[in-house]
Amino acid sequence: MSRLVVVSNRVAPIKEGKVAAGGLAVGVYDALRSSGGIWFGWNGEVTATPTLSSETHGNITYATLGLTRRDYDNYYRGFSNATLWPIFHYRIDLSRYRREEYEGYRQVNHMLAEQLQPLLRPDDVIWVHDYHLIPFADECRRLGIRNRIGFFLHIPFPAPEILTAIPPHNELFKTLCSYDLVGFQTEVDRQAFEDYITREVRGLVGADGSMTAYGHNFRAKVYPIGVMPDEIQQTAASYKGRRNLIGRKASGEPCQTIISVDRLDYSKGLVERFNAYEELLNRFPEHRRNVQFVQIAPTSRSDVKTYQNIRQQLETQAGHINGRYAELDWMPLHYLNRSHERRILMGLFRNACIGLVTPLRDGMNLVAKEYVAAQNPDNPGVLVLSRFAGAARELNGALIVNPYDTAGMAEALDRALRMPLNERKERYESMMLPIRSADLASWRDNFLQDLRGPNTRTVRAEKIIRVV
Ligand code: G6P
Repeated sequence: MSRLVVVSNRVAPIKEGKVAAGGLAVGVYDALRSSGGIWFGWNGEVTATPTLSSETHGNITYATLGLTRRDYDNYYRGFSNATLWPIFHYRIDLSRYRREEYEGYRQVNHMLAEQLQPLLRPDDVIWVHDYHLIPFADECRRLGIRNRIGFFLHIPFPAPEILTAIPPHNELFKTLCSYDLVGFQTEVDRQAFEDYITREVRGLVGADGSMTAYGHNFRAKVYPIGVMPDEIQQTAASYKGRRNLIGRKASGEPCQTIISVDRLDYSKGLVERFNAYEELLNRFPEHRRNVQFVQIAPTSRSDVKTYQNIRQQLETQAGHINGRYAELDWMPLHYLNRSHERRILMGLFRNACIGLVTPLRDGMNLVAKEYVAAQNPDNPGVLVLSRFAGAARELNGALIVNPYDTAGMAEALDRALRMPLNERKERYESMMLPIRSADLASWRDNFLQDLRGPNTRTVRAEKIIRVV
């Protein structure tokens, strides 16, 4: 079978067991580990000149390079994370546009395609990930690269009314049409893309996912990313460490733990979540001393202003909640900015009676699926999940909440804390069905099967059955 070449901005840490930032690195690493191949991308460092270096560990060759300060500022910190990220998460108010940053973004995509070219074999299949690399296939085509190239968007795709706030949206999304296959997390995202293609570009859409726009034929389909439930179950069950350390009452009884794990990002709804927890303590005083909330939020993109602001806000809020409710022998909120190893997180998930996952917008949110997969089937915890996470489309057994509704979230927490075992088991079992059937291997296999399948770039226009 043809070799797999994965391209993403962030490449998972090369050493096993190190902490990976965000769902992309976790998902792609696990998917690549069993098939093997090349993982090409940024090494996370700022250097004077970008020099490609490659290291092989097991069946994965990591080919990575640094970015110059200018490229980092324009491409990563600027257009990717100060323009695209907020807009794709419906936060036009937090986004800004600078033409030189967009130009830097395009240049880095060009440079990355040039660096990858000598590593490629003619039958390699190239799988590109996320919003940093929208123009990557277009740059490859300009260089004469003819391999199959697919793109998967890990984050939401917003409605056209939001998307068109990006000044060069037309030019940018024209380049997305150079891929052979474009994958989205949910049907909502795919539909938003279809709306953009049909309304803004007057493109054509077929019932089989084929699209024609800007003279390109390609396909766009939904591939919800999943987890490896058996591995998570095993890791969570075998972890014996810290579980006894947190949350003991004076009597020695464990406190009921609510756990959240997110990159520190304004899209994750942390402020709203802290408010809801405070509301729970305020309105349902019987939970005081019996419950504790552990929020793990490793800092992220800390040189982007909007991230500095949210960090400050959360520090104030955490201090306020503990200041108001803590007692000498009870700390209501544990707010940790350090990242933790995966096996520790899985152990904490298993030991927590509520997984609280309440983003304001999220492509999928793998923490939601990991929390459920880590539970003890005989005594599972409850997932409280935002309706705005992609995972809410699959996990009907969660208590679905609206993160903008503070009172509603506090009531859901109260309900979860009181939920009887039989209801918890029913909900857990119903969630494990999609978690098992749409696991990480099927995400990877379905995408790659479609990418390796008949080439849509050669599909003729007569095949397009719906014209809008
Ligand atoms: C999200 C994005 C990924 C990104 C990750 C970490 O999960 O979808 O593309 O790698 O966040 O963010 P960072 O900016 O640290 O790479």
